[in-house]
Amino acid sequence: MKIAPSILSADFSDLKSAIAICQSAGADYLHIDVMDGHFVPNLTIGPVVLESIRPKTDLFLDVHLMVTNPEQLIEPFVNAGADNITFHIEAVDNTEEIIEQIRSFNKQVGISVKPNTPIEVLEPYLEKIDLILIMSVEPGFGGQGYISESTARIQKLDKTLKILGIRKQVIIEVDGGIKLSNAKIVKEAGADILVAGSAIFNADDPHSIIEKFKNL
Ligand code: DX5
Ligand code: ZN
Repeated sequence: MKIAPSILSADFSDLKSAIAICQSAGADYLHIDVMDGHFVPNLTIGPVVLESIRPKTDLFLDVHLMVTNPEQLIEPFVNAGADNITFHIEAVDNTEEIIEQIRSFNKQVGISVKPNTPIEVLEPYLEKIDLILIMSVEPGFGGQGYISESTARIQKLDKTLKILGIRKQVIIEVDGGIKLSNAKIVKEAGADILVAGSAIFNADDPHSIIEKFKNL
């Protein structure tokens, strides 16, 4: 299983150690939750923080923008070292333009959907993007419970991608409430990579939890 630890649940006064643990335990991506206090009621990481993280790791920096007007933050996050930019489809009405803007910087493009957004809204864009981030909690905070209806949504997306013949070209990432106890179900539903925050960083030994996810 591929795993993307979310540093949202790490100790922000010691991100360096958290990142070193992710890297040595074999994490695949480092998941960066960007919240603007507007699209979601929480305020987290800006480009200056990413800029400090970038030289500390060669992990793929997976930037999840939970912001209104993502177009204003794409260039700053690319310059800070992002490897991909994922934006919320609910936050924009010019999805094509945002995809093209991210592509113009040669970065991978992701689109995220909140739990109540129908998967079908993604269909016009599936052939143009690299990753879909299915939210399995309402975005905004770490430590919430997995919404069980998410499993059927992952299965549906997996099926749609297979029918279109593009299953291998689009990554399905799932974010929210992922624990060792439900990871297998989410994987079997079709997830390629799981985001986990509290399950890793609230544990006594984050390193061994990452290894356990990897071995699922
Ligand atoms: C929630 C964020 C998630 C969050 C996951 O809005 O997008 O990435 O950090 O945290 P857990 O794994 O604790 O649900
Ligand atoms: Zn996230």
